[in-house]
Parts: sequence; C-alpha cells; structure tokens
Amino acid sequence: MKNFFLIFQLLLTVTFAIAQKQLPYQNAKLPIEQRVKDILTRMTVEEKAGQLNQLNGGVFTGPAVNDNGQQQKMQLAKEGKVGSMLNVIGTTETRAIQQIAMQSRLGIPLLFAYDVIHGYKTIFPIPLAEACSWDLKQMSINASIAASEASAAGIHWTFAPMCDVSNDPRWGRVMEGAGEDPYYGALVAAARVKGFQGNLNDNKHLMACVKHFAAYGAVEAGREYNQVDISRVLLWNKYLPPYKAAVDAGAATVMNAFNVFEGVPVSGSKYLVTDILRKKWGFDGFLVSDWASFKEMIAHGYAADEKDAALKAFEAGSEMDMESQVTIKYLAELVKEGKVAIKQVDAAVSKILYYKFKLGLFDDPYKYCNVERENNEIFTLENRSVARKAAQASIVLLKNRNKVLPVASDKKVALVGFFANSADDLLDFWIAQGKASEAVTLYDGLKNKYANISFSNGYLPDCTTNDSLIAAAVAQAATAEVVFVNIGISGIYGGEERSLAYPQISDGQIQLLKALKKIGKPIVALVSSGRPLILTEAEPMVDAIVQCWILGTEQGNAIADIVSGEYNPSGKTVMSFPYAIGQIPVYYNHFNTGRPDSTNGNLAWNSRYRDIPNEPLYPFGFGLSYSTFKYSDFNISKTVIKKTDKLNVQVTVTNTSNRDGEEVVQLYIRDYAASVIRPVKELKGFQKILLKPGEQQKVNFVLTAKELSFFDAAGSRVLEPGKFSVFVGGSSKDVQQLDVHLIK
Ligand code: NOJ
Repeated sequence: MKNFFLIFQLLLTVTFAIAQKQLPYQNAKLPIEQRVKDILTRMTVEEKAGQLNQLNGGVFTGPAVNDNGQQQKMQLAKEGKVGSMLNVIGTTETRAIQQIAMQSRLGIPLLFAYDVIHGYKTIFPIPLAEACSWDLKQMSINASIAASEASAAGIHWTFAPMCDVSNDPRWGRVMEGAGEDPYYGALVAAARVKGFQGNLNDNKHLMACVKHFAAYGAVEAGREYNQVDISRVLLWNKYLPPYKAAVDAGAATVMNAFNVFEGVPVSGSKYLVTDILRKKWGFDGFLVSDWASFKEMIAHGYAADEKDAALKAFEAGSEMDMESQVTIKYLAELVKEGKVAIKQVDAAVSKILYYKFKLGLFDDPYKYCNVERENNEIFTLENRSVARKAAQASIVLLKNRNKVLPVASDKKVALVGFFANSADDLLDFWIAQGKASEAVTLYDGLKNKYANISFSNGYLPDCTTNDSLIAAAVAQAATAEVVFVNIGISGIYGGEERSLAYPQISDGQIQLLKALKKIGKPIVALVSSGRPLILTEAEPMVDAIVQCWILGTEQGNAIADIVSGEYNPSGKTVMSFPYAIGQIPVYYNHFNTGRPDSTNGNLAWNSRYRDIPNEPLYPFGFGLSYSTFKYSDFNISKTVIKKTDKLNVQVTVTNTSNRDGEEVVQLYIRDYAASVIRPVKELKGFQKILLKPGEQQKVNFVLTAKELSFFDAAGSRVLEPGKFSVFVGGSSKDVQQLDVHLIK
C-alpha cells in the first residue's frame, strides 16, 4: 500500500513536472532520495563515472601526475565528466567553473573541495596545538569559523579533520592531528566534524572528510607516504577509534590513506573500506581517494596498470578518484565488460548526488558564491579574537625555573631569534588563504606589551648563524633584564611531505643559546614548531620553555598574553617530547615488555637504552600553569566490581596559588592481564577546571565496561576479569594510583 502510494505520488510529480517543463530531480519539494533516483535513471555510465572523478583545478597539493591542462579539465566538466574539483577558491572562480559544469547535459553541479585544515583566512592554531588546549568546545568553534569563512568563498567540502593517531615527530603531519592518544583523538575528531559540518543545511558549513583512513599515522620511520605494517589488534585499539568517532559524528566523507595495510594499499583494501567502514560501522557518506592513490597502486606493486587500478579500487569499495583519472578512463569499460556491477556504481554515485542535493546545489548551484558574504564575513575582528583565544589555550608551558615567567610589562626585554619577526616562518604549509603579512609576529605581539623591547635576529632562516649575528644578539640581550629567545623550526616544515630525520634544535640555535647563557640573564625560550622537538640540549640553558607550536594569525598576541601573565597557561601536551632521536617513537601508552626497566639504570638485562633514559623529556598530558594544584582525597567507590557495575572515581583538586588557574585533571587505567596485552596506561577521561586561589573542587569520573574493555583482532569489544589500576593526576606521569578487581 505504501509502495503504491509512493509510485502514485511519483507519477503525479512527473506529470506535473513535465507540464511545468521541470525534471523531477529539479523539484526541491520532493524527498532527496527520490530526486537522486530520478537523476540516476537519466545518467549514462560515462556520466556516472564522471561523478566519481575529482580533479585539481588550482594550486597543486600533490604531484602533477595528471595535469592535462585546465582547458581539457573544463571540457570534461562541460561533458559532465567531473564530479568535484579541489583547490578552486573564491566566489568568482567557483562560480565561473560551476557555470561550465552547468552546461553539461544534465546540469549536475560540482562540489568544490579544499584543504581547510585550521582556518581559511583567519588561521587558528595547528590542530596539534589546539588539541593541547583540551577544550573540545573551542575546537568545534574554531572548525565552525573555518567552515563559515571557506563556505563564504565558494567551498563546499574540507579535507579535514585528520584523525591519524601518531607518536612519531619525524612525521611532518603530526601537526594536523590530535597527538598520540586514541581516546582523546576520538573526542577531538568528533568535535571537529561537528564544528565543520553543523547540520549542513545552511550555506555556512562544509562537508567534513575523515582522513587518512586508516592508520596513516603509523608510517614507518615517520617517512611520508611510507608503508605501514601493524597488527589488527593495534589497528583496532590504537588507530581506528578517532576515525570511528568522526564517522559516528556524521562525517559526510572519508579519505583513503596512501599507505598499505597487511600488504594491500588502502584504496584497494576491501577489509578496511568495505568490511570495517561500510559494514561494521555503517558509514553512509562517500569515500574519496587521496591524491592519485588509485593510480599509485601500480607503483605499490598491487595493480598492473591503470585499468587494473580502477578495477581494484572499485572492487574494494573505494569511490571518488582524486586526480588519478583512472576511474573516468576505465570505469565505463569495466562495467560494459561485466567486471564491475552497475549496481555498485549507482550506489557510489547516489551518495555523491545525495550530498549535492543536501547542500542545496541542485536548487542553486551558486549558493556558496555570495560576493557580499565573501567580502564581509572573512577575516573579521570577531574571528580573529576567537583565534587569539584559541591560541592562548594551545600554548604549553614546559619549564618555569624560579618563576621567571610571567615577565611584568615594565621590564626591559630583548627578543632574539630569526622567526620572531617573520610571520612567513610562523605560518605553515596548510594555511589555506591565510597570509603571513596579515599575521601578528612575535615581535609585534610583544611590542604591544613591552614598551622597552629590542630585537635581534641571532640566526638565519636556515637556522645557521655566524659570529657577527651572535655578537649582535648578545649585545642586545646584555642590555635587557629578561631575554626572550625564539627557537624551533619554521612552520613550513610541518605538514605534508615534511618528514625530518632530525626533529631537534639546530646547531646554530644551540650556539646562540650558549652565547646568551654566558651573560647570565634569565632566558625564556619560545619554541615554534609543528611537532615536539628534542629540547634536551637546550633545556638546561634556559630558565623557561614556552611551547608555542604554530599558532596562526594571532600568534604574536597570544604568546605575549602568556609571557606577560595576562593569560595563565593551561595547555598540556598531547604528544610526548622525546629525550633523543634514538628513542622515537616514544609514547606514554606503550607496553610493559617482559623485562620492564625498573632498575633505575642498574644493569639487569632490561628493556632499556645504555646511553639514555627510556622516559621522554616531557610526557603526554604535561604542562605547567602559573598556578599550582594539589590532588587529594582520591577514592574509588568499590575495590571489587562486576561487569555491569559503574565505578565512581573522585579526587579533590585545590588551587594552592594566589591566582586563578585552569587544570586538566586526567584519568588513566591499566589492565594487568588480558588475552592481548594492554598498555601501561590508557587515558579514559579528563576534565578541564577553573579554580580561584585556594578553591577546591571534587572532580568525578565514571568508569564502565566500555572504558575497561578493549578490541580483539576481529574488532569486537572484550571485557576480561582481573586486576586494573585507576590513576588520576595532572599528567600521564604525575599520578596517584588505586587498584580495583573486576570479577565475572
Ligand atoms: C594529499 C594529502 O595527503 C591530503 O591530506 C590532502 O587532503 C590532499 N593531498 C589534497 O590536497
């Protein structure tokens, strides 16, 4: 009966539409599903393959593997053989290209995609930095502002958030993620998806893209595009949770990673794409490859040629083809040869069309091309003030000997360091339309607070130095009461294809620090970097270390707010800072091994280095404040629990200082004996609280079966009886411990 009614309704609509000379898919009053079905029936196989074809229309964010020239691309668009373009930016450009696509036989609009990673023009802190704020709401707001600016410039779709868990600072892309913890990474991923997407029914949001699915953060030796070789147990427990959370948060799209998993490139991995993403997780958006990753299956040694690559990608369940054009070249042929079922093509194309309808593009292909919005809603003062707030909260204070910070604004200060007055180096690879000339340099920011400030380069942009640069810097510093020295690595070394074998402070900067140290003034190191650097050599030479990361448009102001004390630091690092290169990867949630190092350096045939400690220089979850906090009255509601029980955890935190301060209270667990070994600590909760001087707060957490369980190799959750520890504290290292037994 219901079907009969639907068919009747469709017939009526079709008749009405014909009378109006309007095709049913153009009728905005019909349900989207119906409009999608209708347009599908009118499409040729070639046009369907076109929807799965994504081409670069602007700057290159990958190798020019298929650059057949703009004209040829526009011709394809006119023929309905392009579904989406990336890197076309601005209302004028997107409108012009959309007009070409609208000349195609069926007038299917294009989707415009862009890497809006941490802002469009108002640039927010890099994602790794904003994750150090432990403020999910703020991260969501940052993403929504990025979306509102990009959507005002004609963009429909961002390739973010990157949800790759990583513990390797050699990998330049750690800047795009939320650090080394899967539990926290999952919360951040969901918050960012919600911020970017909203409910997608206005023109102020973007479709999100969960990338790089899956396990790209495990590239061997931190080398970009390298292989991944990990177990399924590690995949499920460490790498998948953030992607899953992003999918559950409603992300419209997912991107295939470049790497292989179990010897199969992800674009061709049925296990990842179909079995996990589609079947187990029920993902109902669409997939896009990474740049040319379908074609790269040939170089990987998995596909024999382009046609084979197209077939293998499709067989696995991959869909839109970014920039390799193997789909547009071969999919129709594969369908005609009976190698690919048209039903599968229809399923993939339907989802792309669905989102084009959902965004309102069939009703108004130029819905996002509003010049007035583009002129008025981008890089506004309001957006910049949010970016400043976000940047303040992202900074992590790593050291503060003798309370050298904050430095009062009537002090005479010197600023040294090449990057300090060059926004070029303080912005990074993924700055979208952000401009260095519009960013606040460190020098500009500090000048607003310190009337009495002098500046000297100290070293060159490539981090080398010479006697005269050092002499000039030392002369400046000698006249000051406090010396700020900006060290680190230029922002452009963070991001794609920016792997580094030596993520450390350069020799030139160390020379400069040595020379400055000799003059005996308090030294505050302001570290700019898109990854944790090895600070071991620099650390003893300075009194304070402020990890500034790469903070975007408002960085100079935010750093000045911190060092002057106007903002009390509240960030905690989400990646461990290695002690030495040979330790990498070093991370808090490691395994115990059969011979844990508990001998404090005594020779006992343990798992340790002979020349350095096992511990990182600064652990996950660590960060200082100008306030101090005391943890007391830690208790758990039971010491023996059943699987269905809830365990209440409580601790009292007191601000023992004389200024307002924020603390990130962290909860960890350990499972001592399990069918597959578990890490020595796993984050399972946190709360960021604000306390007035002397104020105390009882902080409550609840642990349930979900937090105490883990995944087996098949991706099923298992909860096993035995001894667990519960830890609370202000970092992964500085914790108190209580034990609990889970019984059958
Ligand atoms: C390759 C990168 O891996 C991916 O993250 C990015 O979104 C695309 N290029 C498009 O620029």
